[in-house]
This record gives sequence, C-alpha cells and structure tokens, in this order.
Amino acid sequence: MPPMGNTEASYGAVAIALHWVMAALLIGLAFLGLYMVALPDVGFDTRKITLILYHKELGMVALALFVVRLAWRVTSILPHLVGHLPDWQKVAARFVHLCFYALMFALPITGWLMSSAAGIPVFFLRTFTLPDLIGRNDHLFMQLIEIHKWLSYALLVLIVVHAAAALRHHFVYRDDTLRKMLP
Ligand code: HEM
Ligand code: HEM
Repeated sequence: MPPMGNTEASYGAVAIALHWVMAALLIGLAFLGLYMVALPDVGFDTRKITLILYHKELGMVALALFVVRLAWRVTSILPHLVGHLPDWQKVAARFVHLCFYALMFALPITGWLMSSAAGIPVFFLRTFTLPDLIGRNDHLFMQLIEIHKWLSYALLVLIVVHAAAALRHHFVYRDDTLRKMLP
C-alpha cells in the first residue's frame, strides 16, 4: 500500500485512486455518450432520455472529482518522470497531462452549459438542483453540442496515445512509469 501523498519517486494512494476511478468514469461517460445519442428519439421508448439523465449525473460527479484532483495536484509533490527520456517525450507527457486537466473541466462544463441553454436543469446526486449557468438559447445549445462532441473525441484520442505510451514503457522499455501509478 503506497503512502497517501506523492513522493519524488511515485504517486501516492490518493493520486492513484483518483487517477483510476476517473479513468474508468471518463471512458465510461464517453462511450455512454456516443451510445445514447445514437438511440432513436421515439416517444414511447424512454431509454434514450434515461441514459442522458445518468450521463449528466455521472458527468457532474466527474466534475466534483476533478475539483478534488486539481486541489490535490497543485498542493502535492509531482513525481519525476522516469530518467533517460528524451526532452520531447518529457514535454509531450506533461503536455498530455495538462490537456487531460483542461478536458476534465471543459467536458462537464460544456455539458452543464448545454443543458442550461436547452432550459433543462442539471442535478447533483439526484438531490440538488444546480443553477443554470446561462439563459435559454437554442443556437448556443446546438453549438455546445458540437463543442462537447469534439472535446470528447479529443479525450478519446489522448487516452489512446497516453495509454499506449504507458504500456510501451512497461512492456518494451520495462521501466517504472506504469508501476508509479499502480497500488
Ligand atoms: C467528462 C465528462 C463527460 C464526457 C466524457 C462526455 C461525453 C459525451 C459524449 C461522447 C457525448 C456524445 C456526443 C455526440 O456524439 O453527439 C455526449 C453527449 C451529451 N452529454 Fe456529455 N460528457 C460528459 C459530461 C457531461 C455533463 C456533465 C453533462 C450535463 C450536465 C453532459 C450532457 C450531455 C448531453 C445532454 C449530451 C447529448 C447531446 C445531444 O443531444 O446530442 N455531458 N457527452
Ligand atoms: C480517462 C483516462 C485517463 C486520464 C484522464 C488520465 C490522466 C492522467 C494524468 C492527468 C496523469 C498525470 C498525473 C496526475 O496529475 O494525476 C496521468 C498519469 C499517468 N497515467 Fe493516466 N490517464 C488516463 C488513463 C490511463 C490509462 C488507461 C493508463 C494505462 C494504461 C494510464 C497510465 C498512466 C501512468 C502510468 C501515469 C504516470 C505517468 C508518469 O508520471 O510517468 N492512464 N494520467
């Protein structure tokens, strides 16, 4: 069991738990999103609307976890990348991590904005009704759907690049990159 906090050499239990819980949640949300929008809008079939409600609820949980993660990240030591990496790989790895932080914020926020623009409320844990971020605006609603969609595609592409790099380090270079992020 790793210590709670990060060290120079490795991620701590909190960062590791947040990393893997959020990885599962975000990948799940992206596929749920793609699946639910492909369902037909049929009046008697409530599957689509039910899945959209789950998507919004879980998306807001992702936003709450993001706030905790960001707070943890800015107040923790950042473990070193493994040694012997060429400079471009160090920059690329940190840049992808930064993009993930931007996407973990932008995706739920565009989702929330989209719902507000459509005049549909957003709930948190089925209990609290969150305030609308903007007033009703059909044109903006359509644009936010597009932005939310393209941000999701960017997230999926970066996950493939990031996971491929992690697996390559583990199985090809046999270094500690992946082990640093494992319990
Ligand atoms: C990290 C979190 C999220 C991810 C990865 C994500 C991902 C996606 C994806 C992939 C789609 C399908 C896009 C398409 O093909 O048109 C989608 C649709 C949608 N998302 Fe999210 N989403 C997230 C958070 C949220 C949140 C927090 C809300 C609202 C509170 C939300 C509301 C919606 C809605 C309403 C749609 C359907 C849009 C339509 O009618 O076409 N999403 N999302
Ligand atoms: C939605 C999916 C994912 C996101 C958003 C994500 C995000 C991140 C972020 C932001 C970091 C930097 C540490 C931090 O600030 O927490 C990180 C590190 C890491 N991730 Fe992911 N990750 C995802 C999925 C994966 C997957 C599927 C793997 C492995 C197959 C993986 C392996 C790693 C490893 C090994 C590190 C440590 C890198 C290092 O410091 O050398 N991640 N990830």
